[in-house]
Order: sequence, then C-alpha cells, then structure tokens
Amino acid sequence: MNPRAAAHRILGEVRRGTLSDHAASRILPAVDAADRGLALDIAFGCLRLRARLDAWIRACADRPPSRMDRAVRDWLRIGAYQLTELRTPDHAAVGETVGAARSALGRRRAGYVNAVLRALARRRDVDPFPDPDVDPVGHLCCWGSHPEWLVRRWLARWELADVRRLVEQQNRPPDVVVRMLSGEDPAPPDGVELEPVPGWPRSYRLETGLPETALSHLRAVVQDPAASAVVDYAGDRLAEPVLDVCAAPGTKALGLAAGSGVPVVALDISHRRLARLGAPAGRLGLPVSTAVADARRLPVAEAGTVLADVPCTGTGVLRRRADARWRLGQRGLDDLVALQREIVDACAAAVRPGGLLVYSTCSLEREENEGQVDAFLDRRPDYRRDPPGAGARSDCVTPRGDLFVRPWLTGTDGAYAARLRRIA
Ligand SMILES: C[S@@+](CC[C@H](N)C(=O)[O-])C[C@H]1O[C@@H](n2cnc3c(N)ncnc32)[C@H](O)[C@@H]1O
Repeated sequence: MNPRAAAHRILGEVRRGTLSDHAASRILPAVDAADRGLALDIAFGCLRLRARLDAWIRACADRPPSRMDRAVRDWLRIGAYQLTELRTPDHAAVGETVGAARSALGRRRAGYVNAVLRALARRRDVDPFPDPDVDPVGHLCCWGSHPEWLVRRWLARWELADVRRLVEQQNRPPDVVVRMLSGEDPAPPDGVELEPVPGWPRSYRLETGLPETALSHLRAVVQDPAASAVVDYAGDRLAEPVLDVCAAPGTKALGLAAGSGVPVVALDISHRRLARLGAPAGRLGLPVSTAVADARRLPVAEAGTVLADVPCTGTGVLRRRADARWRLGQRGLDDLVALQREIVDACAAAVRPGGLLVYSTCSLEREENEGQVDAFLDRRPDYRRDPPGAGARSDCVTPRGDLFVRPWLTGTDGAYAARLRRIA
C-alpha cells in the first residue's frame, strides 16, 4: 500500500474510535517495509499536530476544516504535514498526496485537495497562529496543538515558558531508549548504534537498527528514562512477596526483578497485554510470573511490596499516544481518579505492616498524583511517605520525597511516584 494512503487509512480508523497504535499495527503490514516509517510519521504527526495543521488549512481554504468532508480534510492534513513539518519538496508533497487521494476521492474532490495544497505551498510565509504575546492560550492550543482545557490547567500551575516547552516536547516523536538491566556498558550487535542518554546512566538512545535486534543481544528492555526512574525510585531492597498489580506490558516488573534479585508476581486485568511479558521474562531469565487479576480485588493480604502503576490520563506520555490528547477530558480524568482510588485502597489492604506500597502514574495531573496520595494518607493513617530508593535522581524528587519527572526539564516522558510505608 502507498504510504500516504496507509496514513489516510490510519487517520480514518482513529476517527472511527480505534486507538492510534492499534490502527497502525493493523494497517502498516500492508506497506513496504521501506515506507512504513514514512507512513507512521505522517499519520502520527497529523494526529499530534492536528490543530496546527488545521490552522494552515484554514488560512488557505474557502471554508474552515470543521466544515469539510472528513476524508478530504484528512488528505489536506497529510499534505499540510509534509509541506510544513517534513519539508518534503512541494511537487512531491502535493503531487504524491493528490495522486493517492484521487483513487479514493475521485477527480473533483481530489481537485479541491490539489487547489488548497498548492495555495499552502505558495503561502508558507503567512503566520496562521494567534500571537503568543497577545493570546498565549490560543497560541498553545493552535500552534502547540493541545486541547484548551489541558493548556489552561497547565498554565494555572506552571510558567508559560515551561508549558511551551512541555507542549513542544509532547509534539516530537519519541526516541526509542534501551535501558540496561545491569551496570555493564552495552555491546550492541552489528547494525545497531546506541548513544548514552545524558543524565540517565544505563539508558541508551537507539540511533540505528531495530529494537528487536538490539534486545536480542543485550540484557535490556525498551523503556523511557522516566519509567526507569520509577523503578529506581522504588528501590532495590524489596521485601517479598513483590506484587506488580497493573503490570502489563511489564518493563517495570522486569526492572524490579533484575534490580532486587527477588521474584515478582505481575498481575494485570488484561490477559492480552499481560501475554507480552512472557517472552522477555524468558529471554532475560528473570523470575517474573504472571496472573490475570483485578487490582481492586487482590487475592493476597500479606505482600511485602506492591507496585501500583495505575491506569491514568497519561498526560506525561502524550507524544507516545498520538491521538490521546484529543480523547481526554475532565470527565475521563475524574473517572480515572475514582478508579485509582479504588486500586490504591485495595493495594493498601494487601500490604502487610512494615511493607511498602509504591504508587505511580505517567500523568502530570495533580489529582492523579500527589492529590491522590495525600487523600490516601488522610484515609489511611497507618501509612507514611517513605524516603526515595537509593537510585532516584535527586532533581526529580520533590521536597516531600515523591518522584516527579517533568518532560520539559528532562526531555523524557513524564512520571510520578510515591513510596508509602505501612507502619502498623
Ligand atoms: C500504566 S499501564 C501499566 C504499565 C506497566 N506497569 C509497565 O511498566 O509496563 C496500566 C495497566 O493497568 C491495567 N489495568 C487497568 N485497570 C486495572 C485493574 N482494575 N486491575 C489491574 N490492572 C488494571 C491496564 O491493563 C494496563 O496494563
């Protein structure tokens, strides 16, 4: 399949409710291996930068994108992304896009796509975005391509310059980072190049080669440094039995088992996601066993350590989930906070006195992070915050001892964690 046609198919499936990763893994196998990267870049770029691309289209078309035929609008986004972000030469961006659109749309509607994209190619000197000095919210929503409710809540909490850097970071495609499970330097196989990630010992950016090839030769997992930071923060002296209750796909469970040397029981509500843990645990020879379970009803009462890496809005990993920012809303956030509360309460009951509960998210939102933990500590006076594990990076530890990885400072994903000790 032509890579632009594949990108269009992915956008169509996401519009109809499929998650971007699922749509991509269904459609990409039909694309030549050499073109898959381009198809994915265009599709995910169009999803992340939807509002930015629509501003360009609005500046060049006779009607706003919201009033266009959806299939036409997706072709325009695909063309606009190549023209403004990939810097594809004009004749290729317009010609290839319109060529691929013609068989799907017919001559007349493809002619419209052609006219708008040609106008955009001529008018790239126009600035179609709100002035950041006059309308910073509008600028971050439009140029920054983030929903307004999220921009407003971030601006109420952090400096404008930081929110701008956060938005920029969330708009970049993520690197693939390999995390060594032991301290040795990696010896990558032929065709694989790794670069150390500054500030994150044992994390290496994959510069060349496939993750599968790298992993087949290394004692490592693919894991963003922010997720590795949660494992380090949890610590390496973990009392048994160790339970990871929202474990799938499982890189933190593998990191915990490798770091502590003790067996980890990995639980998750999703059988399909949990199944992805078996092969890497076997390859690495790590004592990680799996079972399907609902973390709101745990089948144990005497755990020494529980990691609850709970389902969350994922506002720290928006660059990874290309369509997620447009699905989120206050209602979804509230529902997740309620689910997290149920999970953390059930986990608290599963830890024995003296044991440790590590609560973590990949969210930046206060209600899911320190707000959730503070409310938990009010309900459970038998728990206290515990100091960070020895491996925690000190500039990511808050004055109260929680882990908070802020993407605009680290260039990584975002993450939060708290260590909670049961004292009675
Ligand atoms: C943030 S992900 C976990 C990532 C994982 N810890 C890792 O490092 O690879 C959250 C997980 O929670 C699982 N989940 C959602 N609701 C759950 C529940 N009630 N009980 C157990 N797991 C649940 C999801 O299936 C998902 O795999």
